[in-house]
Amino acid sequence: MRHLLDTTDLTLGEIDDMIALACDIISDGKKYSHICDGKKLATLFFEPSTRTRLSFEAAMYELGGNVLGFSEGGSSSASKGESVEDTVRMVSCYADIIAMRHPLEGAPRVASFKSGVPIINAGDGGHAHPTQTLTDLLTIYREKGRFDNLTVGLCGDLKFGRTVHSLIKAMSRYENVSFVLIAPKELQVPEYIITDVLEPSGASYIQVEDMEQEMPNLDILYMTRIQRERFFSEEEYLKHKDAFILDLGKLRTAKEDLTIMHPLPRVNEISTEVDDDPRAKYFVQALNGKYIRMALIITLLKWGGAL
Ligand code: CP
Repeated sequence: MRHLLDTTDLTLGEIDDMIALACDIISDGKKYSHICDGKKLATLFFEPSTRTRLSFEAAMYELGGNVLGFSEGGSSSASKGESVEDTVRMVSCYADIIAMRHPLEGAPRVASFKSGVPIINAGDGGHAHPTQTLTDLLTIYREKGRFDNLTVGLCGDLKFGRTVHSLIKAMSRYENVSFVLIAPKELQVPEYIITDVLEPSGASYIQVEDMEQEMPNLDILYMTRIQRERFFSEEEYLKHKDAFILDLGKLRTAKEDLTIMHPLPRVNEISTEVDDDPRAKYFVQALNGKYIRMALIITLLKWGGAL
């Protein structure tokens, strides 16, 4: 049995296989419509979500399976003091696979020690969001046809944005990927992303505060929202909330084949006028999330011997 707690739990070969499976699902979904008949996915969401939870649920239904779970910790016995370990121990009696989102970093890993079924980290605090990264990789693959030789700009709240941390971990494993980290100094990536991920990988990176200067160099621009819920004070959030707003004017110098991504939800960091630009791929990206989660559910259930 394997869990997915961080993107680096998967080898590059396993990621390739999962992307190939997702592409096959996209081209012939009917082939997979009964593969999970009789299986159950539990979605344990202790934090709000639209895309991740609903795309997991849609994924399981499209595979022929069923779904149970909760969308806020307050409606579970966690509100009576039950530990994550005990919750998961119980739920693994009722479901074949579990997707968990939790505000505490490391909670899905703790859960995995007591679970009898595969645990998928659907986002833990500011730490990691590996299924978003698989979604991002599928999007990059479908748009660019490769993961190497790319200049990737990441812009916004790089400190608290777990999707950014997971994507850097994933993309720094490929050849000749350059990162342009665009954020106010206070919202730059945590130090461990530099010392434990970027520097050991040999990937080139620069840290800048200006989006427009680097725009002509980018193959991918990954926008993120300022994560209000993770700031220690409202005052700090207000200081940064409008730090970057992408509009058509700022895209004037961008490459014609730039891919604009965003894990969503968006607040105001991408002006809605950009949505109709052919380079805007964030809604396609959200759809890709369902396909890659279908591929992930199949893969983890197969690895665990349940399929
Ligand atoms: N991208 C993402 O994780 O969105 P949700 O918070 O809506 O799940």
